[in-house]
Amino acid sequence: MQEEDVAKRPATCYKWDMEHSSLIIAPSMLSADFSRTAEEVASIKNSGADWVHLDVMDGMFVPNITFGPKFIKDLRKHTDLVFDTHLMIEQPERYIQLFAESGSDYITVHGEATRHVHRALQMIKSSGCKAGISLVPSTPVCAIEPILDMVDLILVMTVNPGFGGQALIPSTLEKVTQLAEIRQAKGYSYLISVDGGVNLSTVSTIVEAKADVAVCGNAFFTAADRKLFVQQMKGL
Ligand code: DX5
Ligand code: ZN
Repeated sequence: MQEEDVAKRPATCYKWDMEHSSLIIAPSMLSADFSRTAEEVASIKNSGADWVHLDVMDGMFVPNITFGPKFIKDLRKHTDLVFDTHLMIEQPERYIQLFAESGSDYITVHGEATRHVHRALQMIKSSGCKAGISLVPSTPVCAIEPILDMVDLILVMTVNPGFGGQALIPSTLEKVTQLAEIRQAKGYSYLISVDGGVNLSTVSTIVEAKADVAVCGNAFFTAADRKLFVQQMKGL
């Protein structure tokens, strides 16, 4: 690293290495202006962020309601970015096919929302999408150990799901490190994503914990300069 690069390093990003610069940034449309969604998704692309995180909420699994497959299908026409669909709905297996057909690349279900996690993951894979599993803060890693060999993504909730703009719960990051250790020990290849309260003040802690993907809602959409925000998150 050149000396001038050190000077440009954001004060909050102490980990300045390849691992940090390859952090995948996934802005969450939950914090976008829903009356201007096509423009918002174009701004995600222009900012240099990598994925679009789509929070589907049913008012049952979480106390909030957002959007369904038609919204995602309509948005799909406006971007070629990876669609990272996070289903916060009860019995997600009822809707997996629809969300796959709407243009999702990753579909993530909650282990707490179905009795048949294995079957739900099989359904996602047979639909041609990448399969993700998510854990709320009170669910331990051991609850999903039997299915770790079949997932492409693990979404560790670092807040209680339902709303944007909450503060990250630090103890949840232990699960990120634990999952990274299991991945290395067993030769798995899943990505580890962190969702909730991720911003310029907390990014160093998620990188240190060994996260690969940073979901950011509030921090991205309220940033004065979204491109600069993404660069700082990546440590560029
Ligand atoms: C919360 C959602 C998150 C949310 C994160 O239930 O799953 O994706 O958008 O928002 P921030 O980044 O504002 O905490
Ligand atoms: Zn989410």
